[in-house]
Amino acid sequence: MPVDGPVPWPCAEHTGAKHDIYRRYLERWFPILLAGYPSVTYAEGFAGPGIYSGGEAGSPVIAIRALVQEVSANKGITRFVFIDDDERCVKMLRETLQEAFPVRPRSESAMPVMMGKGTCADDLGVALDQMGAWGQPIFANLDSWGNAPVPFKLLQRLAGNVSTEVIVTLLPQHFVRFVSNMGEAGDDVFGGDPHWRDVVNLPPAAKSRHILTCYRQALEKAGFPYLLDFELIPRNGQPLYLVFGTGHPLGVQKMKDSLWEVDRAQGVGFRDPRDEQAETLFAMDEPLLGPLTRLLQQRLRDSGPVRVEDLRRFALLETVYRPEHVIKALKPLVDNGSVKIADGGRLQRSSFVSL
Ligand SMILES: C[S@@+](CC[C@H](N)C(=O)[O-])C[C@H]1O[C@@H](n2cnc3c(N)ncnc32)[C@H](O)[C@@H]1O
Repeated sequence: MPVDGPVPWPCAEHTGAKHDIYRRYLERWFPILLAGYPSVTYAEGFAGPGIYSGGEAGSPVIAIRALVQEVSANKGITRFVFIDDDERCVKMLRETLQEAFPVRPRSESAMPVMMGKGTCADDLGVALDQMGAWGQPIFANLDSWGNAPVPFKLLQRLAGNVSTEVIVTLLPQHFVRFVSNMGEAGDDVFGGDPHWRDVVNLPPAAKSRHILTCYRQALEKAGFPYLLDFELIPRNGQPLYLVFGTGHPLGVQKMKDSLWEVDRAQGVGFRDPRDEQAETLFAMDEPLLGPLTRLLQQRLRDSGPVRVEDLRRFALLETVYRPEHVIKALKPLVDNGSVKIADGGRLQRSSFVSL
């Protein structure tokens, strides 16, 4: 769907936070992956023009800068693939990249760049074929307007590729609003499963969470065993969900580190979509642990005694929190007697705890 309005457009509050996350993650991803593989590919199915109307850099520029800043020029081959279905974006992206990098930061063979007009659905996979990207790690940034028109087959192909990760932008409101107009293409977003349509019968507060849960399930079904999803909440304006899928827990850990380091001065917080009280985390230095405490209580309610180490893994893989937040979040529950430590000793990683 080409841009509905002028190109470029203003950079929304949540876009700044999203870019900060991309940058921090890619500054980790390029060096780690290029230390282990001879080549990698960064691909975008919805690349945009590379710039915003206030002059802010778009994701393609952020990605190339992350590579150039973090990896020495003689280290491996990095391919960049940028697809967008708006001719104006493709033209502007070409000009923007020339302006941002007047001197090519790598030779053509060390850093091939392909950009073209096309849809993510029809053209991203083909572009990755033409670039010889498969068989080596790919990071696919699928940053649509939130409607995620990404064929399930493409997600499956990406998930089956070596050390490949995706990050998908999702606006659940889009699916809530248009559920009755969406045919099979709507189901394909969710891996062909029409269960997402149950959203019509849910109370307003539960709708977004349902869409997100269905999308998580689709990414899992596509073959991404480790997922991280979170909601970016601007002080004004629409919240945005990012869903990240990877084949390795280290990917989740690095993405989470990037998330927690995001510059909160931009007025954007984030939220764990599973927290029933939907508490937004704006402060960084003193993270609000209420949502994690509730999620841990829920987890303990569903099980017998659990090792704190397992709760740390739960926090890493099933919440927006980091493992090191777990003991702090459990402490008030231990202090008020609602959580017991099996041997009555000190609360530590090896303790068994129960309600
Ligand atoms: C949110 S913007 C991308 C912003 C960019 N990733 C950034 O962060 O700077 C979405 C872009 O997707 C493009 N687009 C929309 N539908 C598309 C589709 N089906 N296939 C490819 N591009 C599409 C639009 O033209 C627009 O440039």
